[in-house]
Amino acid sequence: MHAVDIIRKKRDGENLTTEEIEFIIDGYVSGTIPDYQISAFCMAIFFQGMDHEETTDLTLKMANSGEILDLSSIQGRKIDKHSTGGVGDTTTLIVAPLAASCGVPVAKMSGRGLGHTGGTVDKLESIPGYKVNLSPREFMEQVNRIGVSIVGQTGELAPADKLLYALRDVTATVESIPLIASSIMSKKIAAGADGFVLDVKVGRGAFMKTVDDAVELAKTMVSIGRLAKKETVALVTDMNQPLGRGIGNSLEVKEAVLTLDGQGPANLQELCLTLAAEMLILAGHTDQYGEARRILEGKLKNKAGLQKLAELIEAQGGNPKVVQDLSLLPTAQYQEPVLAKQSGYVTEIDPLAIGTAAMYLGAGRETKESQIDLAVGIELKHQVGDWISQGEELAIIHANKETDIQEAAQTVRQAFHIHQNRISPNPLIYTKITSKDV
Ligand code: URA
Ligand code: CA
Repeated sequence: MHAVDIIRKKRDGENLTTEEIEFIIDGYVSGTIPDYQISAFCMAIFFQGMDHEETTDLTLKMANSGEILDLSSIQGRKIDKHSTGGVGDTTTLIVAPLAASCGVPVAKMSGRGLGHTGGTVDKLESIPGYKVNLSPREFMEQVNRIGVSIVGQTGELAPADKLLYALRDVTATVESIPLIASSIMSKKIAAGADGFVLDVKVGRGAFMKTVDDAVELAKTMVSIGRLAKKETVALVTDMNQPLGRGIGNSLEVKEAVLTLDGQGPANLQELCLTLAAEMLILAGHTDQYGEARRILEGKLKNKAGLQKLAELIEAQGGNPKVVQDLSLLPTAQYQEPVLAKQSGYVTEIDPLAIGTAAMYLGAGRETKESQIDLAVGIELKHQVGDWISQGEELAIIHANKETDIQEAAQTVRQAFHIHQNRISPNPLIYTKITSKDV
């Protein structure tokens, strides 16, 4: 086999065999196929696509390029949850302890934020003392003991994806449905859970800009799950405004605590209850969505989810008192309100602009090497659909450098679109894709 023939075949729109896909990935990882051929290969996929079988072959090959975590020492059906990435997407910090409080074992590996999107691991590091690096043994023992652990993803999981992603990033081949689907699912499969609940974001702040594309991505990932014998459900959810109120690491931990205490923003709470209900169903706790919701709502009411978050924090070396006293979390030196210049209805809060403003304040990384500031970020005071009066607070900028405030305030003001006519906000959840749909 020769790489050039495989590239040509894909360029001309033909389907690749399992062996051809394996040849390419093996060659890339071992160094016998150079970056320039893999770049051309990715570009051919970008334009010609891949069918679900090819995408599954690519996924499994990448998953098997490194270690596949064996979670069999953890009792019960392990269910993982993954979001394709958004702004202010605080869900894992809520869903993981909430599902665990119902008895679903959650062994979760999360990533760091890059660009305008946040990462769960960074958010957790804003909790004083919290350790994101546990050995695989500590990780599994903790899940058996308290039902949940959230750690950073190790470099040994799906190394082929790591190489490929870095190359896609600089060759304009990230935004390809089969490449995104295989990238995400290879890491999920390598992390060893029995089933996955996927949150596929759509909108201005997401990779997928249209519902049609997001549905296609969701179907591709659910199909990979089915072919890989991992039960998978995907929700297609809105990212045309940031999720909840807090954007920034410690601001999102605060929001997670408030949500588990029953005082969270309505959209964030609703999405978390829906994702967690799907986890309960995949874990086999019930086959009735309504019953799953009732169980979870009970865990919000009796604070069992909040208690589980405190246990998780304590087990990983952090200070569990943060769940009672939010002032123990890092707080920015300056809290500067952004006021509305005119009255009207909020028709849009551009998540890309808000996420980028939070990144420039220091909440996110411009490059992989950037240091982040855990305390800074943006706290929204309104959501799409709200009426606001001139002079009212739109948001609060949390900054540690006085010189950052002006620029962030201007970006936030521009991110809020205010009009005289009310528009109905987008649905929070557009659709659900299960293995019956693919
Ligand atoms: N997240 C990933 O892990 N991979 C992609 O390709 C896109 C988003
Ligand atoms: Ca949020």
